[in-house]
Amino acid sequence: MIIAGIESSCDETSAGIVRDRKILANLIASQEKIHASFGGVVPELASRAHLEKISGLFNLSLKKAGISSSQIDAFGVVNRPGLKGSLMIGVSFAEGIGYALKKPVYNVNHLHAHLAACYTDPEIQFPALGLVISGGHTSLFLIKNHTELVSLGKTRDDACGEVFDKVGRMMNLPFPGGAHVEKIAQKGNEKKIRFPRAYIRNSLDFSFSGIKTAVYYYISKHGLKNLPDIAAGFQKAIVDSIIKKIDDALEIYDVRTMLFGGGVIRNDYLRNRITQHLSKKKIHAAIPDPQMCIDNGAMVAILTDYMISAGIEPQPYVINVCPTK
Ligand code: KG4
Ligand code: ZN
Repeated sequence: MIIAGIESSCDETSAGIVRDRKILANLIASQEKIHASFGGVVPELASRAHLEKISGLFNLSLKKAGISSSQIDAFGVVNRPGLKGSLMIGVSFAEGIGYALKKPVYNVNHLHAHLAACYTDPEIQFPALGLVISGGHTSLFLIKNHTELVSLGKTRDDACGEVFDKVGRMMNLPFPGGAHVEKIAQKGNEKKIRFPRAYIRNSLDFSFSGIKTAVYYYISKHGLKNLPDIAAGFQKAIVDSIIKKIDDALEIYDVRTMLFGGGVIRNDYLRNRITQHLSKKKIHAAIPDPQMCIDNGAMVAILTDYMISAGIEPQPYVINVCPTK
């Protein structure tokens, strides 16, 4: 079965094509340069850029996959959660082309799709825990099987990537700051500056804005002269608090696998700390290749294939900016 996946929920336009869950093409047009001077994603500019790119990108993905559009059996498109105008472009495109080709169009949850980027890992066992750590979300799930996920917790304030980006901005680094902060942190001593860790008791929710504010006050007082140590201390505070919450979840849920997704899990320090920590507990950490961590169409297509196998029906045209499930 050949599935095309369309992703436009935030600032990446992407079309991916999979055949029997193997990736034939996965093209991503990033809008980083468009939003860089604003220090964050500008929704109106994002939706316009999606509109300009989506059709050409889809045609290129067909070419890369070596197929014609008539060979596609079904489309999957992210319809939730995300920026309203951005979601509308992807959903309208997929619905339009699906209608023209008389092929079903499936609505896909963006966060579930991030975790589906791990589904090619043969060592996964269900039930599992899943953690999406991105610029817009920090969300923990119980994954009962490939298509049934239950939300366990999420950030109560800033998303983890958002905090990396805001701290990057305090350090005068280009947007998005996450990868730049990581690079500078590699030269620092993570034990030199101890930033407070936010911790919400009796809950699997996260909180990161306090760490961000602590970095802000530190920089306001001491300036940027210890930049590598500030970056390393900040990164350690973030990763410590993620690991503490993972441990809380593992106290409650007896699982053998934990899946990860989202742009922040590209961070090598985070990948290594999580992998080492979970391996001590004999839990397999499924972490996608860096290219599959960012928003992409292939993860959407893979999840769509599993949704079809599970007997989930395509639904009418709908977008949902902030779904409750
Ligand atoms: O998943 P993603 O591509 O888009 C969203 O759905 O939000 O994630 C983008 C986020 C940005 O905040 C970016 O700074 C962060 O992922 N990011 C990183 C790294 N690479 C990307 N954060 C920390 N370290 C990195 N190496
Ligand atoms: Zn994402």
